[in-house]
Amino acid sequence: MQVSYQERQAGEIACTTVMPTRPVPGMVEDIRESLLKQPRSISPKYFYDERGSELFDQICSTPEYYPTRTENNILDRYAKKIIDKTRPDQILELGSGYSTKTRHLFDACEFVNHNCGYAPFDVCEEVLIDSAVKLTEEYQWLELNPLLGDYHAGLGNLPLIHANRLFVFLGSTIGNFEENNALKFIAELSNIMKPGDYLLLGADRVKENKVLHAAYNDAEGITAEFNLNVLRVINRELDANFNLDEFTHSASFNTTKNRIEMRLISNMNQDVEINEMNESIHFEQGDDILTEISQKYTYEGIEGMLAAANLTTIDHFEDDKAYFSLILAGK
Ligand code: AVJ
Repeated sequence: MQVSYQERQAGEIACTTVMPTRPVPGMVEDIRESLLKQPRSISPKYFYDERGSELFDQICSTPEYYPTRTENNILDRYAKKIIDKTRPDQILELGSGYSTKTRHLFDACEFVNHNCGYAPFDVCEEVLIDSAVKLTEEYQWLELNPLLGDYHAGLGNLPLIHANRLFVFLGSTIGNFEENNALKFIAELSNIMKPGDYLLLGADRVKENKVLHAAYNDAEGITAEFNLNVLRVINRELDANFNLDEFTHSASFNTTKNRIEMRLISNMNQDVEINEMNESIHFEQGDDILTEISQKYTYEGIEGMLAAANLTTIDHFEDDKAYFSLILAGK
């Protein structure tokens, strides 16, 4: 049998499994805790099955969703400066996905002739391997060490290296955490950083309500599809019978908490069966499920959070409109 170059390559790529430092609840337990209690919620991590990941990619190319594009431009502009300043032996990226934006850092390494390794850390093995195959082709000098695991389960078991690391956490994914948990997470990261290590953090900024609202209510309805997809995931994984036509996407900016809150609203009085849990949920018309929070930060707010986690801001990059921040912090 002919083995394709890609398969051969994929066969040679090994992921290191990162063991949890604390237990993360399984899906049944997690959904039982959040969806059966008031106020009802579902963790945004369940958005990302194959279809959900594709929908998220589509969101990123809508004209309204500015964060990805803006962060990408900031990286494009400042990658050389970042690499020049940090000179990492390894770049470790939390939630690496397809490492699209990170390529600016690899390009910068090439430009300044700096050799370094890359440890993409992601929860999905398929994505890690797929992505590693492409990266080895594109950057033959880049030493890859894919790490398979869930950063929600703690960072204490990330492999130790005796070299300088640049930790990268992009996309304002930090905004998915409740404020206290965001700080805890950054503190946990700070804890495993040694002197000489750096953190590159992407964070979305507070801005005009109109711009924020549009970003989470795109005209094509892709964000709505993405939101509803979480019900499809629950139907499949927990043998439930959510009718996607009977829920409506809602996203609005909470001006008190400075965050987008995304919900699914029941169109009518209805009962939903979740067979895997032997439960039934009753919804009155207008009842909602909180599916995501997306915190927006002020310039000072981000630096305050980093300082509270014992990290010093070294550079604070932003775009011309100050829509998005990319912060380089050190220990
Ligand atoms: C991937 C969490 C940064 O909060 O903007 C996009 C996810 N949700 N549109 C965000 C998302 C709706 C996104 N993050």
